[in-house]
This record gives sequence, C-alpha cells and structure tokens, in this order.
Amino acid sequence: MKKIAVLTSGGDAPGMNAAVRAVVRKAIYHNIEVYGVYQGYQGLINDDIHKLELGSVGDTIQRGGTFLYSARCPEFKDKSVRAKGIENLRKRGIEGLVVIGGDGSYRGAQRITEECQDIQTIGIPGTIDNDIKGTDFTIGFDTALNTIIESVDKIRDTASSHARTFIIEVMGRDCGDLALWSGLAVGAESIILPEADYNIQDIAEKIQHGIDRGKKHSIIIVAEGCMSGNQCAEELTKYINVDARVSVLGHIQRGGSPTGVDRVLASRLGGYALELLMNGETAKGVGIKDNHLTATEFDLIFNNDDTNKINKRMLELTKELSI
Ligand code: F6P
Repeated sequence: MKKIAVLTSGGDAPGMNAAVRAVVRKAIYHNIEVYGVYQGYQGLINDDIHKLELGSVGDTIQRGGTFLYSARCPEFKDKSVRAKGIENLRKRGIEGLVVIGGDGSYRGAQRITEECQDIQTIGIPGTIDNDIKGTDFTIGFDTALNTIIESVDKIRDTASSHARTFIIEVMGRDCGDLALWSGLAVGAESIILPEADYNIQDIAEKIQHGIDRGKKHSIIIVAEGCMSGNQCAEELTKYINVDARVSVLGHIQRGGSPTGVDRVLASRLGGYALELLMNGETAKGVGIKDNHLTATEFDLIFNNDDTNKINKRMLELTKELSI
C-alpha cells in the first residue's frame, strides 16, 4: 500500500476532522502518501483530489465540520458516473479509499470495491444520528447529544419562568438515539421516538397530572423520524389545555467543537481504518463495540435487520424516572 485517499460524505458530523487527521498522520507515519478528496463523492467525480501533508491536518482536531467539505451525491449510484471517479483514483495509483460518513456513503464504497479489485475501501461511521450497524457509537453523536442537553437546559429556564410545556424536536433521521439519550440526560417528562409505540393521550394525561401536582414546566423530546414538534403540539393540545411551545433545534446539532469522547473515538477509528488497509482488508466498516475496535463487512452492515436497536431498558428507565 503506497497511496490512499480519504473523503467525508453525507451530513457532516463533529469529529470528522479528527478522523481525517488520524488517517493522514498514521498513513504518513507508515510512509504512505495520502490524498484528500474534497466534497465527498462529488469531488471524486470532479477530480477535486489533492495531496495532504502532515501540516494539512494541523489545528483541525478541535474543529467541527469537515475541512474536506461534504456533499450528498446521488449521481454516484450511476455506474458511468462512478467510472469517472474510479479513473481519477487509478490515474494517481491510489489503492485504498477511506470513506467517513453514514451508510449511504458506505454503499458508494461498496460499489467501488465490487467494480475494481485494485482499490480497497474502508468506512468510518461519521454521523450524529448513531444509526450505523456494526458500531455502538458513531462519530459526532456525543457532541450532538451535548449540544441538545445544553440547549434544553437553557430552554428549561424559560419554560420554568413561564410555566410552559416545551416540545423539543431533535434530529436523528429514523433513529431515536439522540432523542432517547438526550431525554434521559435532561430528565424529560416524555420521549417520542420511532422505535417505540407512544400514545399522545397518555402523554397529555401525564403532563396534566404533573401540572395538577404543582409542576411548573414539562419537557417533551420528539425525534424528527417520528413526527415534527409542531405536529406533536397540535396532537397534544387536542387533549389538554397547556401553553405549549415548540423548539426545533435543527442544524445547530451538527455543529461545534467535538467533545473529548468524539475526538478519541474519531482518532481510534481513523487509526484502525488505516491498519485494516495496510493488512489488505476491504469493504468493511470500522466501529466500536464494548470499547473494542471492530470491523464489519459492508454486506453485514446493510443486511443486518437490527432495526429496533434502541436500548429498551434505557427507554423503560426514562419512564420510571419521569413519573
Ligand atoms: O444524517 C444527519 C442529519 O443531520 C439528520 O439527522 C437529518 O435528518 C439530516 O441529516 C438533515 O439533512 P440536511 O443537512 O441535508 O438537511
């Protein structure tokens, strides 16, 4: 292995820079040349590929976003478009590609591996959603979680002053992890997420019960994959007469300096991805399970029907703690 490339793709996540840094620094340490592909798969097609040096990743570990830029690139599903990207790697003699992103990004890497045996691919899970199979945590999840906690703590102050019910809509696509973890961490009265049944009438009665026994405010966390905050407010006020406000946290959840947990995770996964490439491995996503580094075939990641991977005990606990 003499030359590799790295790209970030899909929605950005805090800690992506730390992962790129780990890949670049470890590669150079092992005398491997590294190229950065700018703007994800779009840059691969457009030949926006540039050599990275040790200094290219200096002063990046603490920065949110991705200095390689990111994009969603549906055109990459097209074989003839993909061929251009593959040609751009081949003409530089690049033999390995590290893709940092979500499972849509892994699919692009999988297709490259299927179409050319001379380019190995390894995926690193980078998304705030924590929705990638084969890892307990994705890079960016912890930072987004802390951003939500910080925001809700602030909202709680005004909720309490005005004795209001706040509905906070959080990201996560079809995964409820951000809602569940943040809900537990802020002591939310109710959490609504896609992986578990919910009943708005029950939630409304619970809020009313709280008000009746003197509670000054209530917090409901709703995962975007389940319904919007506004929908939730509309449903809720069918059953109770509360002064409800909705706060959609939006893209603020994707920004900011990565937490220590995300920086360490990104560095470990970046280093491990490089190790796998050097060992001749391909078409695998790296991850962390019970604090051990793991590598899972893309096929298993895509076909793993572990759709309800929400931690049921944690969800149960949130109910027990918010009576
Ligand atoms: O996948 C990350 C994510 O932030 C999701 O939580 C959210 O649904 C989506 O991306 C938003 O995408 P965009 O930035 O393209 O609006």
